[in-house]
Amino acid sequence: MSFALPRDSRLRHPDFLFGVATAAYQVEGASTQDGRTPSIWDTFSREPGRVLNGDNGDIACDHYHRWPQDLDLIQELGFDAYRLSIAWPRIVPERGQVNALGLAFYDRLIDGLLERGIKPVVTLYHWDLPQYLGDRGGWVNRETAYLFAEFADTVSRRLGDRVHAYVTLNEPWCSAFLGYKLGLHAPGLKEPRLGFQAAHHLLLGHGLALPALRANAPNSRLGLTLNFTPNYPASPRYNDHAVALLEDAINSHWFLQPVMEGCYPWLVRQQLAEANPAIYPGDMAVISRPLDFLGVNYYTRSVVRDDGRGRATEAPLQHAERSSIGWEIYPQGMYDLLLGLHRQYTLPPIVITENGAADVSPQEDTLRCRYHEQHLQAIDRAIRDGVDVAGYFAWSLMDNFEWAEGYSQRFGLVHVDYKTQQRTKKRSAELFRQFLAERTGAE
Ligand code: NOJ
Repeated sequence: MSFALPRDSRLRHPDFLFGVATAAYQVEGASTQDGRTPSIWDTFSREPGRVLNGDNGDIACDHYHRWPQDLDLIQELGFDAYRLSIAWPRIVPERGQVNALGLAFYDRLIDGLLERGIKPVVTLYHWDLPQYLGDRGGWVNRETAYLFAEFADTVSRRLGDRVHAYVTLNEPWCSAFLGYKLGLHAPGLKEPRLGFQAAHHLLLGHGLALPALRANAPNSRLGLTLNFTPNYPASPRYNDHAVALLEDAINSHWFLQPVMEGCYPWLVRQQLAEANPAIYPGDMAVISRPLDFLGVNYYTRSVVRDDGRGRATEAPLQHAERSSIGWEIYPQGMYDLLLGLHRQYTLPPIVITENGAADVSPQEDTLRCRYHEQHLQAIDRAIRDGVDVAGYFAWSLMDNFEWAEGYSQRFGLVHVDYKTQQRTKKRSAELFRQFLAERTGAE
């Protein structure tokens, strides 16, 4: 039992980095312990109707206390790397303060990984903005970008290049657009103009953080993780193609083009009045500072048609296979995305920093096993066709707090019983273990 990949696949090479990923607010719990102050997600999840079943991250997987056991599990499964995130409100609980206990926690975690031969990949911002910054406008306030750079400096001074790779931001599209434009994530605003301003400040924060990271961690790799849900036209009609292109420009290129080329896509600026953030002289040069890798998160695609007013609307799909969260399972989208990015941009190596499926039916774990296999096969084909992909991280190590979906969606390779906090490996975890063991010749 292993993944069906060609014998000579690059994915079988020991240099190809395989990991599992989590994020602080989704797994840690211990939300008031050792000096942590609230984040915008603590606040948001307490507002009625925001998160399914009123769930929150107070306890989550209790990873804050159970991390040694969780790290043992990663080691046992044979992964090369663990992608975790740092809770900003643990490190800077109040403006201008640094919390020694917060730093000490991640210090232990990093050492724990190194002792087990696992490479730490650290995301600096995975959505848990300190509430005291939320109170001052959050990412709409330009100052937040500068404070993020200070936070990145503080963390990297302590962790340095014990960290294999730093990811500055995770999915700024979600922070900016789900948070400020669509109202589905913290802080829950629905103001398109603010969404674009928040996006600019997130990208600015990313660029401002890079020099400190380079100085404090000269041997670590630095990157940014973006999420891509490529849009496919529902029909060959010109208008369906046009809205799909516009939608990709708004949701993907608005984040990638400034980083790679130092400018925002003109199509979006021309079409959307709200796509007009305040940009200071020099910002674009900061945002487009060179990176060592691009983190790509891919889960699904969108199939869209023209709504009659020149914007995209989701087209109903008859026979699509879907995961329990309702997302279409479309491995070809991974291939198309990688080839598309490779052709359109001059990119550093790509690392797939997230890919995975939600499935609540625990039995055979067939859906998740097949999902990972098919997406790995798509990556293998993309590599053969010239794309430089250096790593793959499964989302997620274990079931956890799935944001607005609460605990209802389970993405883990490992099952978590939230009553007892018991971890149980699913078949997909076994599948990875077997594959990774064969690869290194350990079995
Ligand atoms: C995106 C996010 O980075 C992660 O936090 C989330 O749980 C997964 N993808 C699944 O939605």
